[in-house]
Amino acid sequence: MLHSYAHLTKYINARMFIIHRMNCLHKTSQVKLPKLPVPLLERTMKLYLETLKPILNEKQQENVRKLVSEFTSGPGPILQEILIERREEYDNWAYDWWLHDMYLCNQACLPVNSNPGMVFPPLPNLSTETQMAKFSAKFVTEMMNFKRILDKRALPVEKATAREKGQPFCMAQYYRLMTSYREPGLVKDNLINVESDLTLSRPHIIIACKSQFYVLRLTSGEDATPLTEEQIATKMLNIILDAKKPTNTAGVYPIGVLTSQKRDDWAHSRELLSKSASNRNNLALIERCLFFINFDLESPGLEFNSKCKVGAKGYRLSNDRDETNMMHQMLHGGGSEYCSGNRWFDKTIQLIIGKDGANGLCYEHSPSEGIAVIELMEKLIKSTKDLDKQTIDPVASVEKPEKLIWSVNNELIKHIADASSVLDRLVKDLDCHVFRFTQYGKEFIKSCKVSPDVYIQLAMQLAYHKLHGKLVATYESASTRRFRLGRVDNIRAATVEALEWAKAMNQSAVTESGILGTKKIYYTVTEHEKMQLFETAVKKQTDIMIDNILGMGIDVHLLGLRQAARENALSCTLFEDDSYRIANSFALSTSQLLTSTDSFMGYGPVVPDGYGVSYNPQNNSIVFCISSFKSAKITNNSAYTAALEQSLSIMQKLTYTKRN
Ligand code: COA
Repeated sequence: MLHSYAHLTKYINARMFIIHRMNCLHKTSQVKLPKLPVPLLERTMKLYLETLKPILNEKQQENVRKLVSEFTSGPGPILQEILIERREEYDNWAYDWWLHDMYLCNQACLPVNSNPGMVFPPLPNLSTETQMAKFSAKFVTEMMNFKRILDKRALPVEKATAREKGQPFCMAQYYRLMTSYREPGLVKDNLINVESDLTLSRPHIIIACKSQFYVLRLTSGEDATPLTEEQIATKMLNIILDAKKPTNTAGVYPIGVLTSQKRDDWAHSRELLSKSASNRNNLALIERCLFFINFDLESPGLEFNSKCKVGAKGYRLSNDRDETNMMHQMLHGGGSEYCSGNRWFDKTIQLIIGKDGANGLCYEHSPSEGIAVIELMEKLIKSTKDLDKQTIDPVASVEKPEKLIWSVNNELIKHIADASSVLDRLVKDLDCHVFRFTQYGKEFIKSCKVSPDVYIQLAMQLAYHKLHGKLVATYESASTRRFRLGRVDNIRAATVEALEWAKAMNQSAVTESGILGTKKIYYTVTEHEKMQLFETAVKKQTDIMIDNILGMGIDVHLLGLRQAARENALSCTLFEDDSYRIANSFALSTSQLLTSTDSFMGYGPVVPDGYGVSYNPQNNSIVFCISSFKSAKITNNSAYTAALEQSLSIMQKLTYTKRN
């Protein structure tokens, strides 16, 4: 049990020592990770008040100070005890609460609002069905190689490369990637684990093509012999050719679009679908598959190309689609006119292969963070690099593919039509821009002796302030995988220190500092002072980052206190007050999504008037994916991108001196 800060520090130090000893004594795969700590109540409350300072006015702050004081002298300590006891009982005291709060209780539709998209380097030679089949077979073979490692529980344990270097990471997220399904619910969703299902000894995947779904069984015969890559390619080719037949494309209802509905609406539609025995069988096959391969034979139109001209040019396909367009394809499929019916948004992994060479991923977020998904996807990307050198071409056989046939009544047809129009509105509303900043990257930032992550976070704060004249609640995912079943906490970058620095950087030539008699006094912030403010902001941001990755973040703790209160019917004004809503309305939702290939991941905003910003710091460039909604009055995607570019440029000038 943790009773004081000194006790906690001792506990963490002892834990680090134990981990070190365990690493020395055992193979890493056998290491049992420490449990996520429960930070001290007083500490979290103090930091919470600090967090609110830059985003609330003085009156609101005064009110929260009162609420915090009531909380710490009222229900707070009881709730804290509940968390401490829960920590004893569970591998990770926060996991279930966090999963429900973050994902399963969120009724928003999955495309754009929850499922990230990932664009892989395009494959210019992917122009025939034969090549698509060959390419997909390679993907499937690599996925199966990976699954064999997972089945043996033999995935090498990853370790921290900085900050308590060598600490092992929890690998549970990887083991969920091919064994999970997010089932819609009327009140909350269910994350189903299909691992123990018998079908996994005879695994199958689902192929989507022209809004039709096919089962591809990956073993054959009584003894379940795995199919070869060539056999898989032949089956893929058969499926594509079957899906293309005019007799098959006519009158197809895009059932998949139902999975894009708000979760409770989809739960209703699913109930309707399930009234038919054959539909129930189809749903069971879909839910229990390892993953999806989605062949997009049509591509979203050029209206999805970026309207923002800021940044270096990235990928462009021969049909003129740019990488922003490809990101749209991966996020939502382009709407009912294009490929959104060719998706099943509940399934964790959908590997998308476009006939025009675009390829990538749409993934359902609840089982895993992007980092594990990227790690796996990059294995696939690397494995398909030399595909063209292979000579084997699949030949279509006479075998009839196993297609899922749906029984659809008028009520369902209406649900499909409604789902399509809702999704189409969302798709049209999404503004997105893949922004490649090429003036410098993390090598320059490191040479200034600043953490690249901290630096980029500050750049995003500066850009927001430049454009909107204030800071807003900001989310940055911080991995807590150093702990058992660790997921993420939140590095809040909108600090008082960042605000002071941003104000100084964004001042016009002079700033008013006081009135002497009737004379106004103006004052110029010097470069030296800006640098000092920057150093202070960097230190603060670095401290928050380290606290978070070492399990001492405040957001998960606050969530735990709130949940403990709910479950014990204790009323807490602190969590009902508007300040708590403001603190959790993340108008800037950010995430570092580092890749080692030229691929990138992006996602939508999490509030209607917010930005979603992923960033991928490379040695000499940074790839951002910036999203917002066109209907929002506050945000402006192009203007924010331009402000970010300017911010990064002026920060380079500022920090250059630090280097020398
Ligand atoms: N001076 C010089 N170099 C520095 C430095 C400094 N002051 N601080 C850090 N660096 C170096 C590091 O050693 C590291 O070097 P490397 O490139 O050789 O490995 C590099 O800069 C990057 O470090 P930093 O920018 O501090 O970030 P990080 O890699 O430690 O990542 C987080 C920080 C918070 C992003 C990371 O811990 C994390 O949690 N990632 C997961 C995010 C996530 O879950 N995203 C998916 C959500 S779906």
